Amino acid sequence: MPSLFDPLQLGAVSLANRIVMAPLTRNRSQGLVPGPLAVEYYRQRATAGLIISEGAQITQEGQGYLDTPGIHTPEQIAAWKKVTDAVHEAGGKIAVQLWHVGRISHAEFQPEGAKPLSSTNRQANSKTFTKEGFVDVAAPRALKTEELPGVVQSYVHAARAAIEAGFDAVEVHGANGYLLDQFLRDSINDRTDAYGGSIQNRARLLLEVMQAIVAAIGADRTGLRLSPVTPVNDAGQDSDAQALFNYVVEQLSPLKLAFLHVIEGQTGGPRDVAPFDYAALRERFKGPYIANNGYTRDMALAAVADGSVDAVAFGRSFISNPDLVRRLRLNAPLQKANSATMYGGGAEGYTDYPALAD
Ligand SMILES: Cc1cc2nc3c(=O)[nH]c(=O)nc-3n(C[C@H](O)[C@H](O)[C@H](O)COP(=O)(O)O)c2cc1C
Repeated sequence: MPSLFDPLQLGAVSLANRIVMAPLTRNRSQGLVPGPLAVEYYRQRATAGLIISEGAQITQEGQGYLDTPGIHTPEQIAAWKKVTDAVHEAGGKIAVQLWHVGRISHAEFQPEGAKPLSSTNRQANSKTFTKEGFVDVAAPRALKTEELPGVVQSYVHAARAAIEAGFDAVEVHGANGYLLDQFLRDSINDRTDAYGGSIQNRARLLLEVMQAIVAAIGADRTGLRLSPVTPVNDAGQDSDAQALFNYVVEQLSPLKLAFLHVIEGQTGGPRDVAPFDYAALRERFKGPYIANNGYTRDMALAAVADGSVDAVAFGRSFISNPDLVRRLRLNAPLQKANSATMYGGGAEGYTDYPALAD
């Protein structure tokens, strides 16, 4: 019977345990590069079996919130190298999350104040955080069919940049109502070209992105995050989420990705927001399966022990417990994260959560 504390192989990446740090946007990257505090923050959390970085935009168009880091320029690669070196020196492993927000953006972040890019022209009923505080997201522009190969190439460029920056792997952000999810779901995608309509068409962009990244950096360093039923960022619910995501995962299975990472339920909210059979995804995917959302210690221990998941990702508890692995091992109390310091700011609520005393 495997334990949460046992090693695990995710493609080319050897994890010391099955406790994963979930991607957590912290809005502290002034100049769109991770700074010295980020180096310290990730180093403190290097006992995780795998750290998945905060979302990092793959292009300027991919940014949707204030002070999030990019992973597409030489300056960003050099800054991330300091993070990956620190994590590796501390004995950890780290993947970058490749992020394109699509329509969850604002003119402030877009080149020449242009409209954000999406599968649709329809504006999301959602907010983003800018220099002016919380504001409505902008009305997007639907990407033209002939622009989509360029989007795929942007993912490839960022994946290559990630490897150059020393990341052990990449996680493609296919979740939470951002660009790739805006193509997947018929609650958003209203296209009439080969990328809209049927499930096969809506899944096409994601599958092309995954295939292209695999060809560029190898399947054993490529993972994917999905969130089949989360309604966040005005994603709504697909009319048949089970059929859609079963298809996506069936198509991905032959690629032999390093991992599939699934948010079960509403991101950061109820796990039972809509009915969904996650075991059906695991069965179809065949490779390593990381589960996330609202997992307690007991739930994580049980899910790994009964084989329903290979690893569990923890989000909020990694914010406030840099030594989460040790605390889970000892069944020690967990500190609660301060929501006031989650997005933006400095060291407070970022690098000052104490580890257990020896
Ligand atoms: C402050 C904060 C930032 C987040 N940023 C990201 C992100 O960049 N990418 C992502 O896929 N999910 C993001 N999430 C969602 C988390 O990865 C995770 O799915 C969620 O917190 C549920 O897991 P938990 O119950 O263990 O906290 C974020 C959540 C929080 C609280």
